[in-house]
Amino acid sequence: MTLSSNFKDLLSEGVRTCWRSPANIALIKYWGKKGHQLPANPSLSFALTEAYTITRVEAKLNAAGDGPRVSFTFEGERNQPFALKIEEFLKELLPHLDYLPYVSLTIESGNSFPHSAGIASSASAMSALALTLICIEQQLLDIRMDDETFYRKASNIARLGSGSACRSVYGGYTVWGKHPDIAESSDNYAVPIDFTPGNLFENIKDTILLVDQEPKKVSSRAGQQLMNYHPFAKARFEQAVTNLSKLKKSLIENDWDTFASVTENEALSLHAMMMTSSPGYILMRPNTLNIVEHIDKKRKQNHIKVCYTLDAGPNIHLLYPEEETEKALQLIAELKQYCSGGMMIHDKIGSGPENKHCK
Ligand code: PMV
Repeated sequence: MTLSSNFKDLLSEGVRTCWRSPANIALIKYWGKKGHQLPANPSLSFALTEAYTITRVEAKLNAAGDGPRVSFTFEGERNQPFALKIEEFLKELLPHLDYLPYVSLTIESGNSFPHSAGIASSASAMSALALTLICIEQQLLDIRMDDETFYRKASNIARLGSGSACRSVYGGYTVWGKHPDIAESSDNYAVPIDFTPGNLFENIKDTILLVDQEPKKVSSRAGQQLMNYHPFAKARFEQAVTNLSKLKKSLIENDWDTFASVTENEALSLHAMMMTSSPGYILMRPNTLNIVEHIDKKRKQNHIKVCYTLDAGPNIHLLYPEEETEKALQLIAELKQYCSGGMMIHDKIGSGPENKHCK
Protein backbone atom coordinates (compact mmCIF):
# COMPACT_ATOMS: atom_id res chain seq x y z
CA MET A 1 0.00 0.00 0.00
CA THR A 2 1.27 3.50 -0.84
CA LEU A 3 0.62 6.08 1.81
CA SER A 4 -1.25 9.15 0.57
CA SER A 5 -0.09 12.48 2.03
CA ASN A 6 -3.51 12.91 3.62
CA PHE A 7 -3.11 9.56 5.34
CA LYS A 8 0.29 10.68 6.70
CA ASP A 9 -1.08 14.06 7.83
CA LEU A 10 -3.95 12.42 9.65
CA LEU A 11 -1.65 9.97 11.41
CA SER A 12 0.88 12.65 12.36
CA GLU A 13 -1.96 14.39 14.20
CA GLY A 14 -3.16 11.05 15.62
CA VAL A 15 -6.51 9.41 14.88
CA ARG A 16 -8.59 8.54 17.94
CA THR A 17 -11.70 6.53 18.59
CA CYS A 18 -13.43 4.76 21.44
CA TRP A 19 -16.10 2.06 21.58
CA ARG A 20 -18.09 0.45 24.33
CA SER A 21 -19.13 -3.10 23.48
CA PRO A 22 -21.15 -5.60 25.53
CA ALA A 23 -20.64 -9.22 26.49
CA ASN A 24 -23.30 -11.57 25.14
CA ILE A 25 -24.89 -14.75 26.39
CA ALA A 26 -25.44 -17.60 23.94
CA LEU A 27 -28.71 -19.54 24.06
CA ILE A 28 -27.69 -21.79 21.16
CA LYS A 29 -24.03 -22.53 21.81
CA TYR A 30 -21.09 -22.26 19.46
CA TRP A 31 -18.74 -25.09 20.40
CA GLY A 32 -16.49 -26.46 17.68
CA LYS A 33 -14.80 -24.85 14.69
CA LYS A 34 -14.18 -25.57 11.03
CA GLY A 35 -11.81 -23.91 8.57
CA HIS A 36 -10.26 -20.70 9.78
CA GLN A 37 -12.17 -19.62 12.88
CA LEU A 38 -15.54 -20.54 11.34
CA PRO A 39 -18.29 -22.14 13.46
CA ALA A 40 -19.10 -25.83 13.08
CA ASN A 41 -22.71 -24.95 13.96
CA PRO A 42 -24.83 -21.78 14.09
CA SER A 43 -25.34 -20.00 17.42
CA LEU A 44 -27.82 -17.46 18.80
CA SER A 45 -27.20 -15.01 21.64
CA PHE A 46 -28.37 -11.74 23.10
CA ALA A 47 -26.28 -8.73 24.02
CA LEU A 48 -26.03 -7.75 27.68
CA THR A 49 -26.23 -4.23 29.10
CA GLU A 50 -24.14 -4.04 32.27
CA ALA A 51 -21.21 -6.27 31.30
CA TYR A 52 -19.13 -4.40 28.73
CA THR A 53 -15.63 -3.36 27.69
CA ILE A 54 -14.60 0.20 26.81
CA THR A 55 -11.62 0.45 24.46
CA ARG A 56 -9.88 3.67 23.41
CA VAL A 57 -7.40 3.61 20.57
CA GLU A 58 -5.07 6.25 19.22
CA ALA A 59 -3.28 5.52 15.92
CA LYS A 60 -0.10 7.44 15.03
CA LEU A 61 2.20 7.20 12.07
CA ASN A 62 4.75 4.41 12.01
CA ALA A 63 6.61 5.41 8.84
CA ALA A 64 8.82 2.31 9.02
CA GLY A 65 5.78 0.27 7.93
CA ASP A 66 6.72 -2.61 10.25
CA GLY A 67 3.70 -2.23 12.49
CA PRO A 68 1.34 -2.30 14.04
CA ARG A 69 3.39 -1.28 17.05
CA VAL A 70 1.28 -1.56 20.17
CA SER A 71 1.21 -0.03 23.62
CA PHE A 72 -1.57 -1.67 25.65
CA THR A 73 -2.94 -0.96 29.10
CA PHE A 74 -5.84 -2.66 30.85
CA GLU A 75 -7.54 -0.60 33.56
CA GLY A 76 -4.55 1.74 33.65
CA GLU A 77 -1.89 -0.95 33.99
CA ARG A 78 0.27 -2.98 31.66
CA ASN A 79 -1.15 -6.48 31.32
CA GLN A 80 1.16 -8.94 29.60
CA PRO A 81 -1.29 -11.85 29.00
CA PHE A 82 -3.91 -9.52 27.46
CA ALA A 83 -1.23 -7.67 25.44
CA LEU A 84 -0.09 -10.98 23.92
CA LYS A 85 -3.66 -11.86 22.92
CA ILE A 86 -4.06 -8.47 21.27
CA GLU A 87 -0.78 -8.75 19.38
CA GLU A 88 -1.82 -12.18 18.12
CA PHE A 89 -5.20 -10.78 17.06
CA LEU A 90 -3.60 -7.84 15.23
CA LYS A 91 -1.28 -10.19 13.32
CA GLU A 92 -4.36 -12.10 12.13
CA LEU A 93 -5.79 -8.81 10.89
CA LEU A 94 -2.83 -7.80 8.69
CA PRO A 95 -4.41 -9.28 5.51
CA HIS A 96 -7.71 -7.51 6.31
CA LEU A 97 -6.64 -3.99 7.31
CA ASP A 98 -4.04 -2.52 4.95
CA TYR A 99 -3.20 0.40 7.20
CA LEU A 100 -2.03 -1.67 10.17
CA PRO A 101 1.70 -1.85 9.26
CA TYR A 102 1.83 1.97 9.14
CA VAL A 103 0.50 2.66 12.62
CA SER A 104 1.56 2.70 16.24
CA LEU A 105 -1.51 1.98 18.34
CA THR A 106 -2.03 3.11 21.91
CA ILE A 107 -4.83 0.91 23.24
CA GLU A 108 -6.49 1.50 26.63
CA SER A 109 -9.14 -0.94 27.71
CA GLY A 110 -11.27 -1.64 30.78
CA ASN A 111 -14.27 -3.76 31.80
CA SER A 112 -17.42 -2.79 33.67
CA PHE A 113 -17.31 -6.09 35.57
CA PRO A 114 -14.58 -7.31 37.91
CA HIS A 115 -11.95 -9.15 35.91
CA SER A 116 -11.93 -11.91 38.52
CA ALA A 117 -15.67 -12.49 38.18
CA GLY A 118 -15.15 -15.43 35.84
CA ILE A 119 -17.28 -13.82 33.12
CA ALA A 120 -15.98 -14.42 29.59
CA SER A 121 -14.54 -11.04 28.67
CA SER A 122 -13.15 -11.96 25.25
CA ALA A 123 -16.42 -11.24 23.41
CA SER A 124 -16.74 -7.68 24.73
CA ALA A 125 -12.99 -6.99 24.51
CA MET A 126 -12.45 -8.29 20.97
CA SER A 127 -15.64 -6.71 19.61
CA ALA A 128 -14.75 -3.32 21.14
CA LEU A 129 -11.29 -3.49 19.58
CA ALA A 130 -12.65 -4.61 16.20
CA LEU A 131 -15.07 -1.67 16.16
CA THR A 132 -12.28 0.82 16.92
CA LEU A 133 -10.07 -0.63 14.18
CA ILE A 134 -12.80 -0.41 11.52
CA CYS A 135 -13.63 3.11 12.67
CA ILE A 136 -9.97 4.12 12.29
CA GLU A 137 -9.88 2.56 8.82
CA GLN A 138 -12.90 4.65 7.82
CA GLN A 139 -11.22 7.83 9.01
CA LEU A 140 -7.85 7.08 7.40
CA LEU A 141 -9.13 5.95 4.04
CA ASP A 142 -12.07 8.34 4.14
CA ILE A 143 -14.42 5.47 3.30
CA ARG A 144 -18.13 5.89 3.93
CA MET A 145 -19.75 2.57 4.78
CA ASP A 146 -23.45 2.12 5.43
CA ASP A 147 -24.26 0.71 8.87
CA GLU A 148 -24.84 -2.82 7.62
CA THR A 149 -21.44 -2.94 5.89
CA PHE A 150 -19.70 -1.36 8.89
CA TYR A 151 -21.09 -3.82 11.44
CA ARG A 152 -20.65 -6.87 9.21
CA LYS A 153 -17.03 -5.92 8.66
CA ALA A 154 -16.51 -5.34 12.40
CA SER A 155 -18.19 -8.67 13.13
CA ASN A 156 -15.99 -10.49 10.61
CA ILE A 157 -12.88 -8.95 12.17
CA ALA A 158 -14.03 -9.60 15.76
CA ARG A 159 -14.58 -13.28 14.87
CA LEU A 160 -10.86 -13.67 14.23
CA GLY A 161 -10.14 -12.57 17.82
CA SER A 162 -12.82 -14.69 19.48
CA GLY A 163 -15.71 -16.47 17.78
CA SER A 164 -18.42 -15.31 20.17
CA ALA A 165 -17.14 -11.69 19.84
CA CYS A 166 -18.62 -11.47 16.35
CA ARG A 167 -22.12 -11.56 17.92
CA SER A 168 -21.31 -8.65 20.28
CA VAL A 169 -21.29 -5.94 17.59
CA TYR A 170 -25.12 -5.83 17.63
CA GLY A 171 -27.77 -5.24 20.26
CA GLY A 172 -30.67 -7.62 20.92
CA TYR A 173 -30.68 -11.16 19.58
CA THR A 174 -28.01 -12.15 17.06
CA VAL A 175 -27.17 -15.22 15.00
CA TRP A 176 -23.73 -16.30 13.84
CA GLY A 177 -23.40 -19.18 11.38
CA LYS A 178 -25.36 -20.20 8.31
CA HIS A 179 -28.85 -21.42 9.19
CA PRO A 180 -31.75 -22.10 6.78
CA ASP A 181 -34.28 -20.26 9.00
CA ILE A 182 -32.26 -17.04 9.38
CA ALA A 183 -32.10 -14.80 6.31
CA GLU A 184 -28.61 -13.59 5.41
CA SER A 185 -26.99 -15.68 8.14
CA SER A 186 -23.32 -16.39 7.47
CA ASP A 187 -20.38 -18.27 8.91
CA ASN A 188 -18.18 -15.20 8.38
CA TYR A 189 -20.10 -12.70 10.48
CA ALA A 190 -23.10 -12.42 12.75
CA VAL A 191 -26.41 -10.81 11.79
CA PRO A 192 -29.27 -9.44 13.90
CA ILE A 193 -32.28 -11.79 13.89
CA ASP A 194 -34.77 -11.22 11.08
CA PHE A 195 -37.91 -11.68 13.21
CA THR A 196 -39.59 -10.00 16.19
CA PRO A 197 -39.57 -11.91 19.50
CA GLY A 198 -42.72 -11.92 21.62
CA ASN A 199 -43.07 -9.56 24.57
CA LEU A 200 -41.74 -12.09 27.12
CA PHE A 201 -38.38 -11.91 25.37
CA GLU A 202 -38.18 -8.21 24.46
CA ASN A 203 -36.71 -7.11 27.78
CA ILE A 204 -35.38 -10.43 29.02
CA LYS A 205 -33.27 -10.28 32.17
CA ASP A 206 -30.13 -12.24 33.04
CA THR A 207 -28.87 -12.48 36.61
CA ILE A 208 -25.39 -13.98 36.57
CA LEU A 209 -24.83 -16.09 39.68
CA LEU A 210 -21.08 -16.22 40.32
CA VAL A 211 -20.41 -19.70 41.63
CA ASP A 212 -16.64 -19.71 41.30
CA GLN A 213 -14.24 -16.98 40.27
CA GLU A 214 -11.12 -19.08 39.78
CA PRO A 215 -9.54 -19.04 36.30
CA LYS A 216 -10.88 -21.87 34.11
CA LYS A 217 -9.00 -25.20 34.20
CA VAL A 218 -9.40 -25.62 30.43
CA SER A 219 -9.49 -22.57 28.15
CA SER A 220 -12.26 -22.12 25.61
CA ARG A 221 -9.70 -22.46 22.82
CA ALA A 222 -8.42 -25.82 24.13
CA GLY A 223 -11.98 -27.05 24.74
CA GLN A 224 -13.09 -26.13 21.22
CA GLN A 225 -10.11 -28.02 19.76
CA LEU A 226 -11.24 -31.18 21.53
CA MET A 227 -14.41 -31.07 19.40
CA ASN A 228 -12.25 -31.94 16.34
CA TYR A 229 -11.93 -35.54 17.51
CA HIS A 230 -15.13 -35.78 19.54
CA PRO A 231 -17.16 -38.96 18.97
CA PHE A 232 -20.46 -37.04 19.36
CA ALA A 233 -19.46 -33.95 17.35
CA LYS A 234 -21.63 -34.61 14.29
CA ALA A 235 -24.76 -35.23 16.36
CA ARG A 236 -24.06 -32.14 18.48
CA PHE A 237 -23.71 -29.87 15.42
CA GLU A 238 -27.01 -31.21 14.04
CA GLN A 239 -28.68 -30.74 17.43
CA ALA A 240 -27.69 -27.05 17.45
CA VAL A 241 -29.28 -26.51 14.01
CA THR A 242 -32.54 -28.14 15.16
CA ASN A 243 -32.50 -26.30 18.48
CA LEU A 244 -32.05 -22.97 16.73
CA SER A 245 -35.20 -23.60 14.66
CA LYS A 246 -37.13 -24.55 17.81
CA LEU A 247 -35.83 -21.51 19.69
CA LYS A 248 -36.78 -19.15 16.86
CA LYS A 249 -40.33 -20.56 16.90
CA SER A 250 -40.58 -20.18 20.70
CA LEU A 251 -39.36 -16.56 20.52
CA ILE A 252 -41.91 -15.66 17.84
CA GLU A 253 -44.76 -17.54 19.57
CA ASN A 254 -43.92 -16.08 22.99
CA ASP A 255 -43.64 -19.63 24.30
CA TRP A 256 -41.58 -19.51 27.52
CA ASP A 257 -41.69 -23.25 28.28
CA THR A 258 -40.21 -24.30 24.93
CA PHE A 259 -37.67 -21.48 25.13
CA ALA A 260 -36.62 -22.70 28.60
CA SER A 261 -36.33 -26.35 27.60
CA VAL A 262 -34.26 -25.59 24.46
CA THR A 263 -32.02 -23.12 26.32
CA GLU A 264 -31.32 -25.58 29.14
CA ASN A 265 -30.81 -28.44 26.69
CA GLU A 266 -28.14 -26.34 24.95
CA ALA A 267 -26.37 -25.49 28.22
CA LEU A 268 -26.31 -29.10 29.37
CA SER A 269 -25.25 -30.35 25.91
CA LEU A 270 -22.32 -27.90 25.91
CA HIS A 271 -21.12 -29.25 29.26
CA ALA A 272 -21.81 -32.85 28.17
CA MET A 273 -19.45 -32.25 25.22
CA MET A 274 -16.77 -31.12 27.68
CA MET A 275 -17.25 -34.11 29.94
CA THR A 276 -17.16 -36.58 27.03
CA SER A 277 -14.13 -35.00 25.30
CA SER A 278 -10.88 -36.85 25.41
CA PRO A 279 -9.51 -35.94 27.90
CA GLY A 280 -12.80 -35.08 29.56
CA TYR A 281 -13.17 -32.24 32.03
CA ILE A 282 -15.84 -30.73 34.25
CA LEU A 283 -16.26 -26.96 34.56
CA MET A 284 -19.42 -27.12 36.66
CA ARG A 285 -18.91 -26.93 40.43
CA PRO A 286 -21.06 -28.54 43.16
CA ASN A 287 -22.87 -25.23 43.64
CA THR A 288 -23.67 -25.07 39.91
CA LEU A 289 -25.67 -28.28 40.41
CA ASN A 290 -27.17 -27.04 43.69
CA ILE A 291 -28.50 -24.01 41.82
CA VAL A 292 -29.87 -26.09 38.93
CA GLU A 293 -31.69 -28.40 41.37
CA HIS A 294 -33.07 -25.48 43.35
CA ILE A 295 -34.35 -23.80 40.17
CA ASP A 296 -36.00 -27.04 39.00
CA LYS A 297 -37.74 -27.56 42.34
CA LYS A 298 -38.98 -23.99 42.83
CA ARG A 299 -40.09 -23.62 39.22
CA LYS A 300 -42.29 -26.68 39.54
CA GLN A 301 -43.73 -25.55 42.90
CA ASN A 302 -44.35 -21.89 42.06
CA HIS A 303 -44.70 -21.89 38.26
CA ILE A 304 -42.06 -19.18 37.86
CA LYS A 305 -40.96 -18.30 34.35
CA VAL A 306 -37.22 -18.72 34.80
CA CYS A 307 -34.57 -20.83 33.13
CA TYR A 308 -30.82 -21.09 33.19
CA THR A 309 -27.91 -21.28 30.85
CA LEU A 310 -24.18 -21.75 31.34
CA ASP A 311 -21.12 -20.41 29.55
CA ALA A 312 -17.94 -22.43 29.35
CA GLY A 313 -17.60 -22.11 33.13
CA PRO A 314 -19.38 -22.83 36.42
CA ASN A 315 -21.53 -19.67 36.65
CA ILE A 316 -25.27 -19.77 36.12
CA HIS A 317 -27.11 -17.22 34.00
CA LEU A 318 -30.66 -17.08 35.33
CA LEU A 319 -32.99 -15.80 32.59
CA TYR A 320 -36.49 -14.42 33.15
CA PRO A 321 -38.98 -12.07 31.51
CA GLU A 322 -39.09 -8.53 32.89
CA GLU A 323 -42.66 -9.05 34.16
CA GLU A 324 -41.45 -12.00 36.28
CA THR A 325 -38.82 -9.90 38.11
CA GLU A 326 -40.50 -9.92 41.53
CA LYS A 327 -40.85 -13.71 41.67
CA ALA A 328 -37.38 -14.21 40.16
CA LEU A 329 -35.80 -11.96 42.79
CA GLN A 330 -37.30 -14.10 45.57
CA LEU A 331 -35.73 -17.17 43.98
CA ILE A 332 -32.42 -15.33 43.49
CA ALA A 333 -32.36 -14.44 47.20
CA GLU A 334 -32.56 -18.18 47.95
CA LEU A 335 -29.77 -18.92 45.46
CA LYS A 336 -27.36 -16.39 46.95
CA GLN A 337 -26.06 -19.01 49.42
CA TYR A 338 -24.52 -20.90 46.47
CA CYS A 339 -22.68 -17.88 45.05
CA SER A 340 -19.04 -17.22 45.84
CA GLY A 341 -19.09 -14.37 48.39
CA GLY A 342 -22.80 -13.99 47.56
CA MET A 343 -21.75 -12.33 44.30
CA MET A 344 -24.09 -11.85 41.37
CA ILE A 345 -24.56 -9.40 38.51
CA HIS A 346 -28.05 -8.23 37.55
CA ASP A 347 -28.03 -7.77 33.81
CA LYS A 348 -30.51 -7.65 30.95
CA ILE A 349 -30.72 -7.62 27.17
CA GLY A 350 -29.01 -4.56 25.73
CA SER A 351 -28.95 -2.33 22.70
CA GLY A 352 -25.40 -3.13 21.62
CA PRO A 353 -22.17 -1.21 21.16
CA GLU A 354 -21.90 2.56 21.08
CA ASN A 355 -19.21 5.19 20.73
CA LYS A 356 -21.15 8.12 22.21
CA HIS A 357 -20.41 7.54 25.87
CA CYS A 358 -16.67 7.11 25.82
CA LYS A 359 -15.57 9.95 28.09
O1 PMV B 1 -15.68 -17.23 21.62
P1 PMV B 1 -15.06 -18.37 22.32
O2 PMV B 1 -14.03 -19.04 21.48
O3 PMV B 1 -14.57 -17.96 23.69
O4 PMV B 1 -16.20 -19.50 22.56
C1 PMV B 1 -17.36 -19.22 23.29
C2 PMV B 1 -18.10 -20.46 23.54
C3 PMV B 1 -19.31 -20.36 24.44
O5 PMV B 1 -19.32 -19.20 25.20
C4 PMV B 1 -19.31 -21.55 25.37
C5 PMV B 1 -20.59 -20.46 23.61
C6 PMV B 1 -20.97 -19.26 22.82
O6 PMV B 1 -21.56 -19.46 21.76
O7 PMV B 1 -20.72 -18.11 23.26
